[in-house]
Amino acid sequence: MTKTSPHRPGTKTKADYVRPWLYPRQREAIFHKERYGLVEASTKAGKTIACLVWLAERAMEGREGDAFWWVAPVYAQAEIAFRRMKFGLPRLYYTANETKLSITLANGAVIWFKSGEKPDALYGEDVHACVVDEASRVREETWHAVRSTLTATAGPVRIVGNVKGRRNWFFQLARRAEAGEKGMRYAKLIAADAVAAGVLSAEEVRDAERALPGAVFRELYLAEPCDDKSNPFGIAAIAACVAEMSEARARALGPVCWGWDLAKSRDWTVGVALDAEGVVCRIERWQGPWQETIARVREATAGLPALIDATGAGDPVLEALQRGGAGNFSGFTFSAKSKQGLMEGLAIAIQRRELRLPDGLAVGGTLRAELEAFEFAYSRTGVRYAAPAGMHDDCVCALALAWRQWRMPAPGAGVLGWMMQLLAEERSERGREARADPLPWRASGEAGAQGSGPADLYDAARKKLGLALGFVCARCGQPIGASRVSDGVWSWHPECR
Ligand SMILES: Nc1ncnc2c1ncn2[C@@H]1O[C@H](COP(=O)(O)OP(=O)(O)OP(=O)(O)O)[C@@H](O)[C@H]1O
Ligand SMILES: [Mg+2]
Repeated sequence: MTKTSPHRPGTKTKADYVRPWLYPRQREAIFHKERYGLVEASTKAGKTIACLVWLAERAMEGREGDAFWWVAPVYAQAEIAFRRMKFGLPRLYYTANETKLSITLANGAVIWFKSGEKPDALYGEDVHACVVDEASRVREETWHAVRSTLTATAGPVRIVGNVKGRRNWFFQLARRAEAGEKGMRYAKLIAADAVAAGVLSAEEVRDAERALPGAVFRELYLAEPCDDKSNPFGIAAIAACVAEMSEARARALGPVCWGWDLAKSRDWTVGVALDAEGVVCRIERWQGPWQETIARVREATAGLPALIDATGAGDPVLEALQRGGAGNFSGFTFSAKSKQGLMEGLAIAIQRRELRLPDGLAVGGTLRAELEAFEFAYSRTGVRYAAPAGMHDDCVCALALAWRQWRMPAPGAGVLGWMMQLLAEERSERGREARADPLPWRASGEAGAQGSGPADLYDAARKKLGLALGFVCARCGQPIGASRVSDGVWSWHPECR
């Protein structure tokens, strides 16, 4: 690499850059061709050092005036990184501005060390490559600002940090990277990697395990996020409902009902379908104009029972669907109270493992991530159920609606079920009588068969259901004929009334 020394303007200095040693997993986590690199790492796994090397190399490839950013949650952390970068670079090849926390390399590229405390102050620059360090402690608005600075340059970014719960943008973005989203690479570095590489002592890790509460140790050294207490479903229960199931298996039975959450402003229209066994077998998710939404909802639902979010702008959509539908669409209006009931129904189903969420289903990962991030908080007016700020809960709402629909019995199903049970009992009673019949010429099974004719079964049901259906007098208990009075439920002899 040939550079102009800032200390001796005009003289060309040839510097052979040799990358500092990084252990293999550390190098692979940061040095790759994907634009977004997300690393969830244990403390002292060497994420900061690897990112300093990576950013320095990007800047060495830069040109005069190009900006490269290091973003940390607060100023003090940006300053530490600034000092470590200065310490790692040969003194001859840069100048540093201590008040602005910037390092100008011999090629004119500038590395800035920024605090993420004031996101508004980060907009406006074109940044050629960026590192967001300690990302789980960086505000989501800061990430939005950083992302905007990389738009014009299509610059790469490395986002690294310890895990800290699940309700933060870093955790969510890491899940997308882990799911293999295009342009993203995910890596996890745990304490054992750093111990194996010799940059962390095993005794230090053992000591931390003894000294720290379990959940804190798991987050800091094993990069395992702790269960957020305010999740109404329970992270472990969600995991237990996630079945390793191929998309083909999940779709095998086919849907029996749908739940639809409609996009209102910035969010998504999501449909979730359940099969006869309570397995999520289809998920549809899109953003589009209302006419398209109505057509797509109708097509996907295909005449099956569906519960639709009819809140606000959803009401006319429901009406449009009902006008052209087969009576299969019903509406659900979200309010704080109704949402609480809906979500509690879903929480019980998840805790009892009555629902199953196939892992392999397309956008199934989004549904799981939303379930895991979903939260409830007690307020003065009751319990508020929602996604954390900046996140969506449309998949959770669609699932909750689908579950409510799934649990809703078909009209009359209870009465029909009861009748079928009575008929079955009657049939087995007759079978017992026939088996006890001493007449030897009667063919075996004949009596049972005789008793199962439709007319016999109808009579049996009549006998059993007589009172409820009005075949006997509600006052004297004697059979009544055509001449009777009834209030629609009970019947009486005219004289008994
Ligand atoms: N490849 C390496 N070669 C030599 N030392 C290393 C290497 N990687 C990490 N270290 C050492 O391990 C320690 C931790 O490194 P670093 O600060 O980069 O880790 P971190 O994951 O950012 O930790 P933290 O959780 O404190 O932010 C440092 O003292 C560093 O010098
Ligand atoms: Mg660090």
